[in-house]
Amino acid sequence: MPTTEAGLDKTLAALGVADAGQVKALFGGLREQFDAEAAKAGDENSWKALRDGWLGRKSGALTLVTDNWLKPATPELKRAVGASLNELRTHVDAQIEARRAAIEAGAESAATAKERVDLSLPGVVRPFGSHHLIRQVFQEIEDIFFSIGFSVVEGPEIETPYYNFEALNIPEHHPVRDDMDTFYLDVPKSAPGPLLLRTHTSPVQIHTMERREPPVRVIVPGKVYRRDNPDATHSFMFHQIEGLAVDADITFCDFTGTIDYFVKQFFGEGVKTRFRPSYFPFTEPSVEFDASCVFCGGSGAAKSGGTCGKCKGAGWIELFGAGMVDPAVYGFVNYDPAKVSGFAFGIGIDRLAMLKYGIDDIQVFFQNDVRFLRQFP
Ligand code: FA5
Repeated sequence: MPTTEAGLDKTLAALGVADAGQVKALFGGLREQFDAEAAKAGDENSWKALRDGWLGRKSGALTLVTDNWLKPATPELKRAVGASLNELRTHVDAQIEARRAAIEAGAESAATAKERVDLSLPGVVRPFGSHHLIRQVFQEIEDIFFSIGFSVVEGPEIETPYYNFEALNIPEHHPVRDDMDTFYLDVPKSAPGPLLLRTHTSPVQIHTMERREPPVRVIVPGKVYRRDNPDATHSFMFHQIEGLAVDADITFCDFTGTIDYFVKQFFGEGVKTRFRPSYFPFTEPSVEFDASCVFCGGSGAAKSGGTCGKCKGAGWIELFGAGMVDPAVYGFVNYDPAKVSGFAFGIGIDRLAMLKYGIDDIQVFFQNDVRFLRQFP
């Protein structure tokens, strides 16, 4: 507000204003000046300058008008000056408030425009997980057995020695228990007996036969625990699928035919199977199943010459243990061994997956390195 130019630092007498008409003209010029300045106040800073320039208490234009024009005015002019000053103040107050509201609204709509969601932008793509390879292999095996009438049952990972050993015909002090030296739980002295982490899925054979009358045709996927030191083929926690089929007239041929069907479905039609005598206290006879080596096609020779590194030239790879259910086991579940027969098998899933997918180290299943996991989407 150019104070000197507008004559605000002078009295009316010094400005030569002597009648009401001149007062009106003087205030008219001042109002025009205010309107011109107000029109330029487009942001917060210029608005503040406008407000202080016109309404400031010490040296604002209206204070100067009051001090220099109104107060020293002659009694004849005082009334006209007072009326014009009031009119001007009302106009200035209203305009300054109107500018403030306009500037605030402009800032708000600019902020809203900034925050507006652009629906045409591409969304945030979150990566999908996939099943762990072990889970995929479980599923593959389950599907094969579903196709020939088996169903899935599960059992507890914490077991009593009765289910893990005794009911499977492994009495206390049987040497087989040494191989399954296991994790026992710390139970209170008042507990009815010891508890352990199951060393195989075979106890679920007992649970199942206790609950069901024959015919039984089940597979049991699950985790098992052994006090084995970790290396490329051993883990203290690993996975098994148990199989159990019991009915009125199941023969050894049904048994080997079922296993051969499974192996061919899992590894491919060209893979052959064979079995060798073995020993498990809960099967009689017991066998160990082998498959012709999936790496060298059973020839024992590596493609690059020399012997196959996987089967060490044998042409066969050991798969898993199995056998006809030992009649002694039926005694623990009140099945009549004279009326029923059946077979059972226990597949180590981790090693089977290693064979099928050419994995050299069992530990990679448990390290959860995404570089490994992503190879099996
Ligand atoms: C058993 O566990 C028997 N219950 C299998 C069975 C069931 C036989 C029904 C007869 C009838 P074995 O101790 O051999 O058997 O273990 C079965 C499979 O588990 C092995 O073939 C192997 O693939 C796997 N396995 C054993 N120990 C480990 C380990 N520490 N780490 C990874 N896999 C293992």
